[in-house]
Amino acid sequence: MSKRSCETAESIEDAILRMACAERRVLNDKYRGQDMDALKLDTVRLSGDRSCLEILDQTLLPGTVRVLRIDKIEDIFEAIRYLRVRGAPAIGVCAAYGIALTASRIETQEYECFLAAFRKQKEYLASSRPTAVNLFWALDRMERTLLAHAEQPVEKIKDILFREAQAIRDEDVAISRSIGEIGFGLLRPGDGILTHCNAGTLATAKYGTATAPMYVALEHGMTDFRVYCDETRPLLQGARLTAFELHGAGIDTTLICDNMASTVMKSGLVNLVFVGCDRVAANGDTANKIGTSGVAVLAQHYGIPFYVCAPSSTIDMSLSTGEQIPIEEREASEVTEMWYKERMAPEGVKVYNPAFDVTDHSLITGIITEKGLCRAPYEKAFRELGIV
Ligand code: MRU
Repeated sequence: MSKRSCETAESIEDAILRMACAERRVLNDKYRGQDMDALKLDTVRLSGDRSCLEILDQTLLPGTVRVLRIDKIEDIFEAIRYLRVRGAPAIGVCAAYGIALTASRIETQEYECFLAAFRKQKEYLASSRPTAVNLFWALDRMERTLLAHAEQPVEKIKDILFREAQAIRDEDVAISRSIGEIGFGLLRPGDGILTHCNAGTLATAKYGTATAPMYVALEHGMTDFRVYCDETRPLLQGARLTAFELHGAGIDTTLICDNMASTVMKSGLVNLVFVGCDRVAANGDTANKIGTSGVAVLAQHYGIPFYVCAPSSTIDMSLSTGEQIPIEEREASEVTEMWYKERMAPEGVKVYNPAFDVTDHSLITGIITEKGLCRAPYEKAFRELGIV
């Protein structure tokens, strides 16, 4: 693997910070916002001259806002693998831009050679993470686009690939917005919402999935709701990312440790749960960040509706149940050392670190897609809405 090709781009950072801070003042008046407006931060984008990807490095949040400019395929792989860009839809957008960029560097005018080199790059990027199906969905869509333009000169195909990646990004914004409108319809003034991990604007091109109903609520002028964010061990996406973006938007946000969800629910503070997802099987079984299935069990115990917010790109009809979803296992150091000042476990102790779990469809009240709210039986509902 090559060394990171490009360090911090000061001017871009400054511009983003200026923009976000200026907007914050507007939000302060309107929504009692206190911090940065994450909706103004692009999680991933292509530079204007199409020479590199600009990725907001989420491993540094909330303390530091830094944009990485990368152009090598190894660095794009690394950014996905190590969660600099993360969250199922954002991973898909990153992979689409990434392969458009790396394919543009393939030096051949021969279509067959171009296709062979593209497929090698695709296979490499697809191996960066296993669970979020959006990664494979986006790469497959890019390949289908290439194949559909086989009669065009290679230089023209390269341009078409850039446009397709942009379309995937733009569609993601519209999809999240639509999920937000449908989810907003489930909200009542005074509601307490619990969410797990970060299925926020930082996990998508904009709005997020689980957070979209909250942002749409603000857009409709509804501010009378509270959000409880699970901190989400071991990588703390709830604390570092969800709390950062919701608090910054002026939403009444309370951070809790994962093991506090039960007591918060029991106290009657939570009326509904919104979570995101990384892959949904045909029967509605849903893979999402580790800990999600525990939240669903608790929600059922306390009679609290549990909704999964799912762009249709996350629904994988090739898998009949969640048992077939590949679950990523990650490094032990994420549990023993990362985010601690010093190691917090004895050397040599065994560690199990699955990054995702599967929530049984029977625990899910509804799956909110951009095309509508699906209720069990899910396969039938997905087909009726024309999602698959
Ligand atoms: O490991 P991560 O941070 O990529 O995991 C993210 C999640 O599990 C999200 O909840 C999921 O991708 C949905 S994002 C809209």
